[in-house]
Amino acid sequence: MQSQDEARAWWKEAVIYQIYPRSFADSNGDGIGDLNGITAHLPYLAKLGIDVIWLSPVYASPNDDNGYDISDYRAIMDEFGTMEDFDYLLTAAHRLGIKIVMDLVVNHTSDEHAWFVESRSSATNDKRDWYIWRDPVDGREPNDWQSVFSGPAWELDEATGQYYLHCFSRKQPDLNWDNPAVRDAVFDMMTWWCEKGIDGFRMDVISMISKDPSFANGPLGTHVCNGPHVHEYLQEMRTRVLSRFDLLTVGETGGVTIDEAKRYANADGSELNMVFEFDHVDGDATTSGNLYDKWGYAKPQLPAVRGIFNRWQLGLEGVAWNSLYWDNHDQPRVVSRFGDDRPEWRVLSAKMLATCLHMMKGTPYIYQGEELGMTNKHFSGPEELVDVEEVNAWHELVEEKGILSAEELLLCFDAVARDNARTPMQWDASPNAGFCTEDVEPWPAVNQNYHQINAAACLADPDSVFYYYQELIELRHRNPIVVYGSFHPLLEDSDSIWAYERHLGDRVLTVACNWTDREQRCDLWDENPGTRLIGNYTTHEDGILLPYEAYVTVR
Ligand code: GLC
Ligand code: CA
Repeated sequence: MQSQDEARAWWKEAVIYQIYPRSFADSNGDGIGDLNGITAHLPYLAKLGIDVIWLSPVYASPNDDNGYDISDYRAIMDEFGTMEDFDYLLTAAHRLGIKIVMDLVVNHTSDEHAWFVESRSSATNDKRDWYIWRDPVDGREPNDWQSVFSGPAWELDEATGQYYLHCFSRKQPDLNWDNPAVRDAVFDMMTWWCEKGIDGFRMDVISMISKDPSFANGPLGTHVCNGPHVHEYLQEMRTRVLSRFDLLTVGETGGVTIDEAKRYANADGSELNMVFEFDHVDGDATTSGNLYDKWGYAKPQLPAVRGIFNRWQLGLEGVAWNSLYWDNHDQPRVVSRFGDDRPEWRVLSAKMLATCLHMMKGTPYIYQGEELGMTNKHFSGPEELVDVEEVNAWHELVEEKGILSAEELLLCFDAVARDNARTPMQWDASPNAGFCTEDVEPWPAVNQNYHQINAAACLADPDSVFYYYQELIELRHRNPIVVYGSFHPLLEDSDSIWAYERHLGDRVLTVACNWTDREQRCDLWDENPGTRLIGNYTTHEDGILLPYEAYVTVR
């Protein structure tokens, strides 16, 4: 398909803003973000110009994994408010032209979900087969699969003598999607939310719903990601639920290859609109040099990161749709990981990285605080660990096995731990960053740089990261070439510049970003200077890119 003829769709033209509700805004003085806090800040989001909010889970949950362990899919978490609060948020957002996409966590439930409570109650219960139960092998776990959050992926239920599978924490038992009753129940629940008027789903670890039936030993990912029936189940979901509503659907697909993505996100509309790939955050570009598993602190290098994006851009061109993201609630802050968060470069490099991403082809996702240039936090000791992934890693790698020293693992946490993204949103310079009132302890502590980095300061400064994001979003809305133009990589051998073109009809958009803190020569505009579309310096000098300069033209 020629990209000129690419089918138009609102979700291709939209910019998504991810909210991690617990850390966004506290409205009732308990130190925990909530739904009314989000509603109160809708005008801020409208000002930024985003089209869609993706809400990380707001359902009832015992919070072993901050809401990714759901105990009731049709209820709101007490700490976040009530279903009335949700309905009000949805209405208020819609009134401002903002859509709401829900997180759909259906690879697993909480062990406190009524389905699991029943399933566990006896080996002959009706719902026993709703989860994945196996007999012990030689008195031990059924196989050697390791959970994503450390330790065996199996937990023994003493009462019935069988193990259940949990790819994540032991409080997140995996549902058995091979059982049609499970699919019925999930599809019913999805329909219920769609009928409420929500605008889509971000599907948590959806590539893991079909397990390798051999249950052979080996790495978990190989045996649970992109399994034999995953496409069949998603097509069934499309037929039975998704096709009946006008939705944005994005799958979180760990371990996905470009070829697999062409199926998940096929332009024929048989499964999902798009998927989140992990190559640039979990692949060689970011993990070579890791000390153990995901834990490392080496800085990702431009050629590797650019190579991954170029491959995905070219790979899906015309056959499937990309999603574009730098960070989310599972990743460190973009400016700290890929850019330069030193005070003298933070703003420029945050804008440069935003340019790189937002001018590519695909639907861009902004993670709360990214539009302020928020940075990673600093971990000074184990008492600061909150996230189950960090707590378990500390226990296993430092205390139990001594694989890493305390100092080493803390350095890794500073670089890549999920809590970097989960510090409260920095609204202003008042105590607790305006996230909650002064008299309460926010969950978890705010990043102390809120005195300099906060929304109020950004809104007062026309050169802030906020207004740069606002401009990028507006450019996408106004220029079809930003949405639909085909992608053409440039300067693929450069160690310092990330450049590409987008083509639509006879128009050409040229993008160049300097990933270094030094001036670089750049001859892309020697022959045809084009017209400036956006840049992070007020002026652009021919033949040169200043430190962290991003420059975009159209001709
Ligand atoms: C996804 C979520 C992550 C969660 C995990 C288990 O990767 O993004 O936050 O811990 O799934 O649900
Ligand atoms: Ca609250």
